[in-house]
Amino acid sequence: MKHLKELLAVGMGALLLASCAKPKDATEAKIDRLLSQMTLEEKIGQMNQISSTGLSDDMKGQVRAGLAGSILNEVDVDVVNELQRIAVEETRLGIPIVFARDVIHGFKTIMPIPLGQAATWNPAVVEAGARVAADEASAAGVRWTFSPMIDVSRDPRWGRIAESYGEDTYLSAVMGVATVRGYQTDNLADPTAVAACAKHFCGYGVAEGGRDYNTTWIPEIQLRDVYFPPFQAAAEAGCATFMCSFNDIDGVPSSGNSFLNVDVLRREWGYDGMLVSDWESIANMIPHGYCADLKDAACKAANAAVDMDMASYAYVSHLKELVAEGQVSERAIDEAVRNVLRLKFRLGLFDNPYAPKRDNPYYKEEALQTARQAAVESAVLLKNEGNTLPLDFNRGGSLLVTGPLADSPRDQMGTWCFDNAGGDHAVTPLQALRQVDGLRVVYEPGLTYSRDRSQAGIRRAVRAARSADAVVCFVGEEAILSGEGKCRADLSLPGAQSELIEALAATGKPLVLVVMAGRPLTIGAEAQLADAVLFQFHAGTMAGPALADLLLGAAVPSGKLPVTFPTMAGQAPIYYAHKNTGRPPMGVTHIDSIPVGAPQFSVGASSYYLDAGAAPLFPFGYGLSYTTFEYGKPRLSSDRLTEGGTLTVACDITNTGSRDAYETAQLYTRDLVASHCQPVRLLRGFEKVLVPAGETRTVTFTLTPDDLAFCHADMRTYAEPGEFHLWVSTDSQSGTPVSFEYE
Ligand code: GLC
Repeated sequence: MKHLKELLAVGMGALLLASCAKPKDATEAKIDRLLSQMTLEEKIGQMNQISSTGLSDDMKGQVRAGLAGSILNEVDVDVVNELQRIAVEETRLGIPIVFARDVIHGFKTIMPIPLGQAATWNPAVVEAGARVAADEASAAGVRWTFSPMIDVSRDPRWGRIAESYGEDTYLSAVMGVATVRGYQTDNLADPTAVAACAKHFCGYGVAEGGRDYNTTWIPEIQLRDVYFPPFQAAAEAGCATFMCSFNDIDGVPSSGNSFLNVDVLRREWGYDGMLVSDWESIANMIPHGYCADLKDAACKAANAAVDMDMASYAYVSHLKELVAEGQVSERAIDEAVRNVLRLKFRLGLFDNPYAPKRDNPYYKEEALQTARQAAVESAVLLKNEGNTLPLDFNRGGSLLVTGPLADSPRDQMGTWCFDNAGGDHAVTPLQALRQVDGLRVVYEPGLTYSRDRSQAGIRRAVRAARSADAVVCFVGEEAILSGEGKCRADLSLPGAQSELIEALAATGKPLVLVVMAGRPLTIGAEAQLADAVLFQFHAGTMAGPALADLLLGAAVPSGKLPVTFPTMAGQAPIYYAHKNTGRPPMGVTHIDSIPVGAPQFSVGASSYYLDAGAAPLFPFGYGLSYTTFEYGKPRLSSDRLTEGGTLTVACDITNTGSRDAYETAQLYTRDLVASHCQPVRLLRGFEKVLVPAGETRTVTFTLTPDDLAFCHADMRTYAEPGEFHLWVSTDSQSGTPVSFEYE
């Protein structure tokens, strides 16, 4: 188990190792030398990132004029190398360009979306997926990706929850660090290494109403307890770059926020990587009402230590004038250019600026197997009435495959798949099931896409169901319904999918729902109608074979939810690590059961919704298996933890079923009384362990006072003495706590 502090320590180790590889000042000396030769225009050019228009005269002209510190969205390796040749051979100082691309969950071989990767609770799988992505992207000349997105996301209405690792600070930190390692390895100069980018710094996931780009109000204490830690862990792990977020925090947009970008990132964390704006986020400070015009925006961004301007041309248009007017110091420019040059030196671009030509770098068998494993481990079994799953077709019989996502290569890719949006090489569930020997598959989609409202296909699907032995219905969201700018106020299944499910359920045939989406959905009614429900956040190229393995028992579901599923959208934001409030839900009365004329307080006065209660549909950390597990009582090395001490926690997990299977044991604590009310539970660790049928395995965790720390009014983070509860459980709602004292 790695708790956050240990993660940070490992990160520091990596950082020291890398810097010990050669004296730290070796690169700095080169930067100093180069900086001393640069004109102000050349410096400002390094702070400019432009989106590629290929080998257009304009593009080549900008490169020749030294205006392209970085280019994004060029993935033709020959074009990359030609633009690089112009930069290296036809500019005065020959400073190479760093080429960037959004490689969020794969380049050609597509992994599950990050939310699905988080559902694996397996950092090794996540790291392996990022390694595949970097290996493929670097073959196209990409050496910088804008990933991992580690915005803690607690509102499923927000489209970018798909791109996050979910609602929990600790899980986001662990997965973010694993992703950084996969992209960068421990040698950023390796030609297959790609600079990672911790984004979006900070608080983007707190957008009011779950509406993208919306304003946020985040108390500094909450920033430090919930939203900063994944970024600090990424910084300590050596993440090469950071990206500003679009949102404002308390009225200050991140691209102009010195508290974030200077006080915290540089001074507190000692970060020496490079900070890039988001796409035109510097210019966006004008509609924010924070800047008067592009010159004002350039001024505020440069003075808030944003090193590179993505796509708004604010810096190249105004910085020279701002320096002449004394509004921006040349020292600030030098600092920014230092960070840009340091990234390029660390990537080895000065020594090896060109992307080597590689044969068949995409869809290697190893890459496809990594994608398949990630897709298998990302699936979460939400319901399995009467052990409907795994399906048993050994005695023949026919399976109806239906639903709009049964055979949609594009949609199973999910959001943020610039370089394989069409689903090339994808194997769909229908294709995979049709390849199973002895399985007779009947296919009747019912609906042709997730928003389809036509009823004609439903009738055909129902007719087909009547002559099948079992039905698997693949529903959910098209890929385009989640991701950036794709927020939904209604989290139900789009189109006539619910009608399709109702009609299939009415046939009385065994009904399995497979839900493929970019976010939690309010599928309570549909889950009621089904015998089994398997949820898979869009799982990429190998979603089909993974689902076939899971449905037929060649693999056992091991996924756990990285986000809470609401019963209704109106419950959002909803998350497990909530405060207890002074009136936690009691006497929950459903709206329809309130007597007419009931007196005002007769239905109680506590914190819940009359029409939705307070409980989630499925809690954070939840996920079933084809077997069952029994947790023993956690055993503590002591009933008290002292300052500087450690507390060891051991817990036995017994597989009481008939299938070998993985279980993710989760360690939670609660600070019962504190000077700032603390959440009812906080994840402090987890371990995914294989438990053979009928056997018992013991998971062990080590807690230190750092694991109990929280931010105080003086902005210092430390643990307070007092009584704590501790759980080792299968999800965030299960288990019986044990107590210990921190002294
Ligand atoms: C987008 C996203 C950011 C992405 C960037 C470049 O608007 O907010 O995550 O990396 O622009 O495409």
